[in-house]
Amino acid sequence: MKSPDLSSVYSPSHAIQNRAYVASLDEYLKIYSGAIEDPVQFWEKISKQFFWKRQPTGPFLNYNFDLQKGPIFIKWMEGGLTNICYNLVDRHVQDGYGDKIAYYWEGNEPNEQKQITYQALLKDICKCANVLKSLGIQKGDRVAIYMPTTIEAIVVMLSCARIGAIHMVVFAGFSADALTERMIDGKAKLLVTADGTFRGTKFVPLKSIATQALLQCKATGHPINHCIVFNRLQTTKQTEHIPDIPWDDAIDHSWDALMASASDLCEPEWVDAEDPLFILYTSGSTGKPKGILHTSGGYLIYAATLFKYAFDYHLEDIFFCSGDLGWITGHTFNVYGALACKSSSLIFDGIPTYPDGGRFWDLIDRYQVTTFYTAPTAIRTLMRLGSSYVTKHSRASLRILGSVGEPIDPSTWSWFYQVVGAKRCPIIDTFWQTETGAPIICPLPGATPLKPGSATLPFWGIVPTIVDDDGVEIIGEGQGHLVIKNPWPGIARTIDGDHQRFESTYFKPYNGYYYTGDAAKRDADGYFWIIGRTDDMLNSSGHLISTAEIESALMQHPSVAEAAAVSAPHAIKGESIHCFIVLKHQSVYNQIIETEIKSLIRNRLGAFAVPDLIYPLPALPKVGSGKIMRRLLKKIVRQEIHLGDTSTLVDENIIEQLRAFTLNKVKIF
Ligand code: PRX
Repeated sequence: MKSPDLSSVYSPSHAIQNRAYVASLDEYLKIYSGAIEDPVQFWEKISKQFFWKRQPTGPFLNYNFDLQKGPIFIKWMEGGLTNICYNLVDRHVQDGYGDKIAYYWEGNEPNEQKQITYQALLKDICKCANVLKSLGIQKGDRVAIYMPTTIEAIVVMLSCARIGAIHMVVFAGFSADALTERMIDGKAKLLVTADGTFRGTKFVPLKSIATQALLQCKATGHPINHCIVFNRLQTTKQTEHIPDIPWDDAIDHSWDALMASASDLCEPEWVDAEDPLFILYTSGSTGKPKGILHTSGGYLIYAATLFKYAFDYHLEDIFFCSGDLGWITGHTFNVYGALACKSSSLIFDGIPTYPDGGRFWDLIDRYQVTTFYTAPTAIRTLMRLGSSYVTKHSRASLRILGSVGEPIDPSTWSWFYQVVGAKRCPIIDTFWQTETGAPIICPLPGATPLKPGSATLPFWGIVPTIVDDDGVEIIGEGQGHLVIKNPWPGIARTIDGDHQRFESTYFKPYNGYYYTGDAAKRDADGYFWIIGRTDDMLNSSGHLISTAEIESALMQHPSVAEAAAVSAPHAIKGESIHCFIVLKHQSVYNQIIETEIKSLIRNRLGAFAVPDLIYPLPALPKVGSGKIMRRLLKKIVRQEIHLGDTSTLVDENIIEQLRAFTLNKVKIF
């Protein structure tokens, strides 16, 4: 890899370099080369920093990325016995860090505050682990978690890890149908939820949704017998907005009551490095979500290493990631990576615009946050509100800024860098996925010169490259499909219950490589620029949703005969959702149908998946085989003049109708 052209880059400042673990590009490159030459030696050395009840007995790394040689598998440190919760909490307490704050929590309202030390966290985890055991949960059982971002949600995650149970956190913005589908697919034995929470002044009825999901599970022959309910609303002042919370004594248990009587001692279960740690659902292009499965040992060392180096984390730092616990960002950086590094982190169960657009900056000042990690969609929302919300707060504690979830465009990057970070703080643009466990392409604060909009260079041990449509590797500068050549400890091991789908989604498209589903450009300096998804995936406000999921929800409306969903660029959300529908014979499109369709999607998937625009059409553009030409619809909503090759369309007249509905903005009603 060549050194970048320094004339177009932002080099690390001396202040950042002086304290950094890796203080020059040369040092990064040297470590990079070593890790590629001998990944086993590189990761083995790191693994020794953690506690192993028994060292790995098999090969340190064993894998196959080549379908022609046999099934795909990835195994790190097999035979090694450990417990991730022990490594994250017990170890630090034993080392004398029991009084260090593990988490500061702030709720939706600025006066909702809690904090917990490592010592107290350990006690709560042990209690919760005993509670789970008393309700019949054992090693290998699955526990669904449908909770807002709270210390208690983290306690549940870690108590599962402590006893070898597998947690499945379902984002608290998902609907009852989506929760049901995930609990059934993942064979959850128990659900932990909360009574509700607030997003600004809007009440989110978590328990009502959970109850509906539990009834649906029962009705379809998958009863879940226990539901633990955390009293999240105990700290809110907006009590007049809380409706009745449904309660069924037969399955519902109060968190407070169970925790009050549980013992605070619980021996950790020693599990194999390759035993499952958690399942986290992500969208899939067939419409059925994929239960991405991560294992204990590899995920531990990868999450911890990325937290330490990507954010250059030091013990005195205060880390604040605004990501929800229901996404991989929350798992890796609010929980596993953070605690592995003895972090003190701020977690926030609220929105950046409540009570006003200065909330993040107010939090940063009050908690003296040093490292702030968020998503471009949140930055764009706040940028729109104007810089004065930012500049009226000091932000003097900030050292490092981070971005994740979607490409950060250079103008948003500049605002984040200049206004929020006052030109002092490097922006760590981390490219990763639910499947990768932690970032795989990202700068290191003290080492990597930054180029606005580029996730920069691969992390140690990762060998990304780009291939053309035929799978031929592009050497040097170029653009194509982003693939990874080799395994790293944090890569997902399978899709729960469907290994074939794991192979066909990630390894079949370009045999021999892990396929990310993203397109990327590599410049002359070896820097990667992520362009976005090339499969049927939309990225709206950082939420990955497949067109198939939206289309199958649309098809549930009794008047809809056919449907196609595509993304269009959006100033705040990054991408917005546009849907084309064909109505059944004799149905007429009107405001009522539109409202019904939108609420159907809200109920089926969640509010974040509701389309911005719905276009009724007499027919969808299709090729001879019957496949919808989504590529054409995408160009139409982007108002592109050149539509590419449309000769394979069954009916080319459809193009004019499409243009009439979109370009000329024909009034639909
Ligand atoms: O398209 C890429 C985009 O988010 C996708 C992964 O989404 P998910 O599994 O939900 O995980 C998001 C949080 C890690 C990727 O395939 N993406 C993520 N980070 C970036 C990004 N696109 C560009 N730049 C990034 N930094």
